[in-house]
Amino acid sequence: MNLTAQQKFFNKNILISGGLGFIGSNLAIKLVGLGANVTVIDNLVPEYGGNTWNIESIKDKISINVADVRDEKIMQRLIQGQDYFFNLAGQTSHLDSMINPFVDLEINAKAQLSILEECRKFNPAIKIVFASTRQIYGKPQYLPVDEKHPLVPVDVNGINKLAGEMYHVLYNKVYNIKTSVLRLTNTYGPRMRIKDARQTFLGIWIRNLLENKPITIFGDGSQLRDYNYIDDVVDAFLLVAGSDVWNGSIFNLGNRNPVSLETTAKIMIDEYKAGRYIFTPFPEELKKIDIGDFYSDYSKIKTNLGWNPEVSIDAGFKKTIEYFRKNYEFYV
Ligand SMILES: NC(=O)c1ccc[n+]([C@@H]2O[C@H](COP(=O)([O-])OP(=O)(O)OC[C@H]3O[C@@H](n4cnc5c(N)ncnc54)[C@H](O)[C@@H]3O)[C@@H](O)[C@H]2O)c1
Repeated sequence: MNLTAQQKFFNKNILISGGLGFIGSNLAIKLVGLGANVTVIDNLVPEYGGNTWNIESIKDKISINVADVRDEKIMQRLIQGQDYFFNLAGQTSHLDSMINPFVDLEINAKAQLSILEECRKFNPAIKIVFASTRQIYGKPQYLPVDEKHPLVPVDVNGINKLAGEMYHVLYNKVYNIKTSVLRLTNTYGPRMRIKDARQTFLGIWIRNLLENKPITIFGDGSQLRDYNYIDDVVDAFLLVAGSDVWNGSIFNLGNRNPVSLETTAKIMIDEYKAGRYIFTPFPEELKKIDIGDFYSDYSKIKTNLGWNPEVSIDAGFKKTIEYFRKNYEFYV
């Protein structure tokens, strides 16, 4: 990120929903470093990725609200006076969205609409970046998947996240609220949830490594994924936030080097210098909502905003494993 982009956030008021979670906390740490006045809201539901240890290094420098984005009164209050809003609070588990579809609907769709209404009424000048997901494409009809790919979500979470992002695009079109959307692929790094596979299978793989248990790969391990290291994703959020030319736009993130699940496991084991993996058939409930191979075409954000993932998968897993070796007790 260039200096002008960095200067954009100095002394700015910034709200991060889901700010105690994986991506939100890393964003908060970066923004505090850039001299921003950061406020976070997070409901700390134990099944989600929120964790107070995530913001240990900045806890005295930010304003923390343990509250729910579904609470309109609180959101109304928090939105006022903010220059930027990174909208990351979400129910992220695909399987949980099938088990409790209405909770997912409330957080990922209904609350998004009410948040936008609060912005329209109480802070129409705010700039919002919404965290969407590649899950909304469903099973790829071609690879790499660009932003024009048909949207055919395979689970309730994908449908609700799609509604959430479409509300953001609509509020730009109709009310001129400055919104942009990032469609994230599998993101990993320090502060991710490793307790279980709710956030991503990579989380439980890391936990298993650290506990000397085998990594369990569903299927034959040939499935392809394009991962992004957290620092690259944080940079993308800041780039998009800092550019008003792309209001109302949607950008894929991704990686030019997709790797198979088996290769991913091998890289993690190499970086940890120990461990092993086993194959097991896909559990039936996961098979039904699995999207197969996925990697995205992220040339739109690359061409227009100069974003490119910089951290290699080896370096990324090295840093991630180092972090969790030191901080294991706070994440399990
Ligand atoms: N991590 C990924 O690989 C990935 C991929 C695609 C999309 N995303 C999106 O990025 C965003 C952040 O994801 P993350 O990986 O940091 O997950 P995360 O679970 O660590 O972060 C989400 C945070 O939102 C909080 N939250 C959930 N519901 C809330 C509510 N109703 N009110 C207040 N706080 C609430 C959770 O407590 C959690 O801290 C999510 O919207 C997710 O859909 C993430």
